[in-house]
Amino acid sequence: MNAKLVLQMNHITKTYPGVTALDDVTFQVRHGEVHALVGENGAGKSTLMKILAGAEQADGGEIFLDGQAVNITSPLHAIELGISIIYQEFNLVPYLSVAENIFLGREPVRAWGLINWPEMYRRAEEILQRLGANLNPRAIVSTLSVAQQQMVEIAKAISVNAHILAMDEPSATLTEHELENLFQLIRALKEQEVSIIYISHRLEEIFEIADRVTVLRDGQVVGTRNVAEVDRNTLIRMMVGRELKESFPKRPVPPGREALRVEHLSRRGVLHDISFSLREGEIVGLAGLVGAGRTELARAIFGADPKDSGRIYIYGQPVEINHPAEAVRHGLGLVTEDRKLQGLVLGMVLRENTTLANLGSVSRLGFINRRAEREATEEFIDRLSIRTPSTEVLVRNLSGGNQQKVVLAKWLFTRANVLIFDEPTRGIDVGSKVEIHELMNDLVAQGAAILMISSELPEILGMSDRILVMHEGRIVGELSREEATQEKIMHLATGGR
Ligand SMILES: Nc1ncnc2c1ncn2[C@@H]1O[C@H](COP(=O)(O)OP(=O)(O)OP(=O)(O)O)[C@@H](O)[C@H]1O
Ligand SMILES: [Mg+2]
Repeated sequence: MNAKLVLQMNHITKTYPGVTALDDVTFQVRHGEVHALVGENGAGKSTLMKILAGAEQADGGEIFLDGQAVNITSPLHAIELGISIIYQEFNLVPYLSVAENIFLGREPVRAWGLINWPEMYRRAEEILQRLGANLNPRAIVSTLSVAQQQMVEIAKAISVNAHILAMDEPSATLTEHELENLFQLIRALKEQEVSIIYISHRLEEIFEIADRVTVLRDGQVVGTRNVAEVDRNTLIRMMVGRELKESFPKRPVPPGREALRVEHLSRRGVLHDISFSLREGEIVGLAGLVGAGRTELARAIFGADPKDSGRIYIYGQPVEINHPAEAVRHGLGLVTEDRKLQGLVLGMVLRENTTLANLGSVSRLGFINRRAEREATEEFIDRLSIRTPSTEVLVRNLSGGNQQKVVLAKWLFTRANVLIFDEPTRGIDVGSKVEIHELMNDLVAQGAAILMISSELPEILGMSDRILVMHEGRIVGELSREEATQEKIMHLATGGR
């Protein structure tokens, strides 16, 4: 056995009903390297990591740690073997504190078996500081933002002092600043001979942090390369199996009537006197740092959170929206950033999730027409390239990126005319991203109005007709497509005027 290899996963196979998730995958990691794992949505990345972490069992293949054959039987066993993983889907207990989550099942105890709380908080504090995360160890997890919860996941994973650390899309919800901290931490861990497996759809991160990269496609390994010896286009070609034009396909549409107007919307401590309007045919980008209030604004408009004051007009008519169901009735749709909590019912099949928000259109006399549902769903599977064996698969069993596409399908099926997209391409692979942007073009060409929240400035600049910038709960500036630049947006987003 090659002694320099800390991990060998050889000829790994895994099938689920109707899906070959992994087909003879051989993946090998060297001591102290950062090894990136990339591939399209549904390529098998998370499945491979779940097998490594003992959360799933392979159907075939062998795993060696430092040359020793091992049979990883459970998540706890994996931790004992020095393997730690940051899952793509969070595994936190919402009603426990940050510190309790970090040390769950491994709490520091006193002589009599009682939990040593001061010690636990102290150690949690220490780890959070190493991460540069400004978080109170006593805070209850359910009160945290998605990005903060991600930090807790990372803290939990590094608290076990693993020598193999797998990160499944750790950066998806992090801000620039937090990402820099994460990269510093990764570099520090590398110095300590920790081997890191890093999954991300943001290829620029691969080039910044990884030594080698393995590409998966349809459950098979396309190849492993030294990062220094590949470029972005080569990687993309390996991932999608063809040339891909990555530029933003924005098609300008002459704006029509005013579809949505928000006036003086406020929510104490969160949103301050927000006013803007949105016309048919327009994509308006909403930029800002995490915590600027963009998601909160979307939720307040949609009736998911209360508002203290302000008015909303749809096609010039004042409307009262105190509940998401009322928003839907007025033709509003919200594609959320947190697909697990707000977008999908994981225990329902793909077909049911697609039609959930507009059952009326597939029902007659109170009965749901399954065939109509199935046909509608099949159309979306096709349009959005959802990777699934059928319409009857539990959404829980789809890959992360494919779940995100189902959230989109659901809102498109409501035929909502005013759509708020909150980070619509987060966790979506490069190929599908272009398809979703094309779809947004189609929607506005058909008269929809779109408000697009995104933390990716190239996406904001590439797709928006106008850009609103938020800072600390206020809209602090508006830029036209022509005048907008990354620098101008960042200047406004960080509080400059
Ligand atoms: N528990 C399960 N039951 C059935 N199918 C599953 C299950 N888990 C994963 N799959 C399927 O296995 C395939 C690989 O999924 P996986 O989650 O590994 O993809 P991924 O590369 O992580 O994608 P993404 O970038 O979207 O996160 C997908 O087709 C998925 O639907
Ligand atoms: Mg995944």
